[in-house]
Amino acid sequence: MNFTETKAWAELERNVGKIRGFSLRDAFAADPARAEKMTIDAAGWTLDYSKNLVDAETMAALRAVAEECGLKDKIEAMFSGEHINETEDRAVLHVALRALSGGAVVDQGDGKDVMPGVREVLDKMAAFAEQVRSGAWKGLSGKPVRNVVNIGIGGSDLGPCMAAIALAPYSQRSIRTAFVSNVDATHFAETVRDMDPEETLFLVASKTFTTLETMDNANTAREWILAHYEGDAAAVAKHFVAISTAADEVAKFGIDTANMFGFWNWVGGRYSLPSAIGLSLMIAIGPDRFREMLGGYEAMDRHFRTAPFEKNLPVTLGLLGILYNNLLGAQSHAVLPYDQYLARFPAYLQQLDMESNGKSVDKQGRRVSWQTGPIVWGEPGTNGQHAFYQLLHQGTKLVPADFIGFLRSHNPLGAHHVHLMANFIAQTEALAFGKTADEVRAEGAPEALVPHKTFEGNRPTNTLVADELTPATFGALVALYEHKVFVQGALWDVFSFDQWGVQLGKVLAKKIIPELTSGSALAHDSSTNALIARFRAANAAPRA
Ligand code: F6P
Repeated sequence: MNFTETKAWAELERNVGKIRGFSLRDAFAADPARAEKMTIDAAGWTLDYSKNLVDAETMAALRAVAEECGLKDKIEAMFSGEHINETEDRAVLHVALRALSGGAVVDQGDGKDVMPGVREVLDKMAAFAEQVRSGAWKGLSGKPVRNVVNIGIGGSDLGPCMAAIALAPYSQRSIRTAFVSNVDATHFAETVRDMDPEETLFLVASKTFTTLETMDNANTAREWILAHYEGDAAAVAKHFVAISTAADEVAKFGIDTANMFGFWNWVGGRYSLPSAIGLSLMIAIGPDRFREMLGGYEAMDRHFRTAPFEKNLPVTLGLLGILYNNLLGAQSHAVLPYDQYLARFPAYLQQLDMESNGKSVDKQGRRVSWQTGPIVWGEPGTNGQHAFYQLLHQGTKLVPADFIGFLRSHNPLGAHHVHLMANFIAQTEALAFGKTADEVRAEGAPEALVPHKTFEGNRPTNTLVADELTPATFGALVALYEHKVFVQGALWDVFSFDQWGVQLGKVLAKKIIPELTSGSALAHDSSTNALIARFRAANAAPRA
């Protein structure tokens, strides 16, 4: 059942006038305990959702929608290894990657416990990470590793890249962690330009080991290493390891499968950070910190699975998102981390959310008549304030936003953290309560300027706060958003764990590759033909 078929949703639709007319100013004035009543905690995080356009009745109705859709059973189906990724006939068990304090987790497809494999790979990663960190792992010429370069794209890049930045305070600074993802050679060339090949270790991360961008970058990296060692093929084993589910493809590339870290088809790319895909992160922060991160993930997993809906963080975030997306017409959702270490978190969330729920057919293959996943975007505060917050405060669009902040800073320099957090708190206050025309007038503004200086307010935000950005709170934060995406996909009745929408472009690019470098006849539309012809002409002419 999708959310539109529930009685509770019909009730919400009947009340849409009342919900649209909701006033945060009035609600806070009427109930001094509103913030307290609308604050919930889990896994080191506190969510204050009181600055949303909801009262207790609306929240109860949203939770009733979830109940009617059978969300509880759907959550259980994921955790218990059912093949809920039906279009690929796979279990969805990224939660098993961090279920380290529990017992067996069974893939219902083959009835096997996946946990022995999970633990084995984790131990193998830890042993390798320690070797690299201690300097015991050496390049061909005997030098220890100073540069770890992860080559991957999408889920094989965004998670570890975002996490390596987020957890930099915990990293071993003598080793630089870098990421090459774009097939644009500039990314590789600029990343390695100051690196000594003898001190560089490449981690080729690809679930399928066939992704064009990653294979191009991996081949170029191999040439770069071999050129340095005058073609000595023994260098490959010392300077490359692979992270993949595809041992045969890894062997074809020339990497010894003894130097391969495996994972499984029940781990979606965008959910794979806690798998071997996180090896670059583990080398950076060490196995103990990596396990602390997994502990944070697991704490949020447990909360998601067991907490009642009214106290459940992922469920609450998911339901609020549905209210704005499906009842109030919001097209996008902003995520605004007030922490420089989370600079890449919005980019990571774009894949997590938009690749999961950017679908337009339901599980029966019918075109949906409702909106599905929102456009997710954001930048770290306070930079965003000086760029796009004008639109958030006074624009015509409804943009629900999540503000994410930490009570303590890793860099307690002068008044920076006080100023950062003052802005963090002030923004949600300003968005919620605005400034009336009378308040502007009372400040002595000329009448002509009053409309320009007025803030309507009533702009909804969530505030997420943790004490400090640690491996554990970081893991819990990522799991929180993974499960929020799950909740929304479940209610929209879409398959959140496949990504067929990325295929067509890949296939067409493969067809166009030989056409760009030959004079073959072109049979595309006139625009595509002209673009190809233009590229051919430019590259046929000698470079000025
Ligand atoms: O193009 C989308 C995608 O399939 C993502 O889902 C995935 O994370 C990415 O490509 C990379 O895939 P792989 O890890 O197989 O190289």
